[in-house]
Amino acid sequence: FLRLTDQNVSNKRVLIRVDFNVPVDANGNITEDTRIRASLPGIEYCLNNNAALLLTSHFGRPTEGEYDERLSLAPVAARLGELLGRPVRLVKDWVNGVDVKAGEVLLLENCRFNKGEKKNNPELAQKIAALCDVYVNDAFGTAHRAEATTHGAAQYAPVACAGPLLAAELDALGAALSAPKRPMVAIVAGSKVSTKLTILNSLADKVDQLIVGGGIANTFMAALGLPIGKSLAEHDLVGEAKTIIDNMKARGAAVPIPSDVVVGKEFSPTAYATSKKVADVAADDMIFDIGPNTAEELAAILDKAGTIVWNGPVGVFEFDQFGKGTELLAMAIANSKAFSIAGGGDTLAAISKYNIGDQVSYISTGGGAFLEFLEGKTLPAVEILQQRAA
Ligand code: 3PG
Repeated sequence: FLRLTDQNVSNKRVLIRVDFNVPVDANGNITEDTRIRASLPGIEYCLNNNAALLLTSHFGRPTEGEYDERLSLAPVAARLGELLGRPVRLVKDWVNGVDVKAGEVLLLENCRFNKGEKKNNPELAQKIAALCDVYVNDAFGTAHRAEATTHGAAQYAPVACAGPLLAAELDALGAALSAPKRPMVAIVAGSKVSTKLTILNSLADKVDQLIVGGGIANTFMAALGLPIGKSLAEHDLVGEAKTIIDNMKARGAAVPIPSDVVVGKEFSPTAYATSKKVADVAADDMIFDIGPNTAEELAAILDKAGTIVWNGPVGVFEFDQFGKGTELLAMAIANSKAFSIAGGGDTLAAISKYNIGDQVSYISTGGGAFLEFLEGKTLPAVEILQQRAA
């Protein structure tokens, strides 16, 4: 694909598809602005090179074709203005044309207010493409969606290229997955095997060690006939879990299974935490974290890794008494010399709780897009840029 930083944008109308879908609290205040900050290099490149800049993003999931004040990008325009140190004008009606001068930044109101955005309607996409001379996709977080601003506009715009964030994400994730330094270790954790089965299968073919955690680990333990008490698990997927374990073993790789765990009797912030060997898990126990020995064993694996891919906390780290395992693994990743990549909402929350952001080699801004990349799926917003460059 073409890259924004190779384009001459002086006096041109540049439209950047960004992902400003940031978390907000009940009063609509932005609680976390990583995605806005991560978009600054592309925006600044355009402004430093005298472009007339239009930014487009979705925000939440509004009813198609309807304006919804609660999903307005107004708070984002304000925050972006602060970060850039210049005014960012929010434009409510923009599909049929906007006035923008070189050096100006306009934020186009939530693109999902337009009928046809989600379905990638060609007429809408053509109108969006007509707003610009150069279309830039810098929205890795939305790259798994084929929508009018992520796909159709790229198809019809005079020039379509990748912004620096999208390019950096693809470079980092691509390097980790296609030419990993060995040993390669993945941590795939979370409540359900079912939502991560494709990732587990795809990584099981690549990595040397597949560390599982949370409800996923419980299902893997059940697959080996280990006691898991009342823990969250998907008993209909134990067969799939067993196949992954067997296939990895057959090629000299491994799924390290916890030898000890931290259990509680109820899912609650005040639940009492007890460490025990897996063999001692009682019928009324619920596993909420890996135990100290397991954490130490896994930390040793991470310490020797050449590449680490991290998605998902290994315990209920929101409750401190069940957060030690996640914290120890986070520290092990931080201290490891491996090239480490991390992504996904819960993972980002753990990274920020344990304050290791600066020690992870690359933190993805993608949630669903990061997962689909790990699954080995083609991201439609990237595919169209590749087609346009061919
Ligand atoms: C995300 O937050 O994962 C992206 O912005 C995509 O949002 P969506 O799932 O509503 O398409």
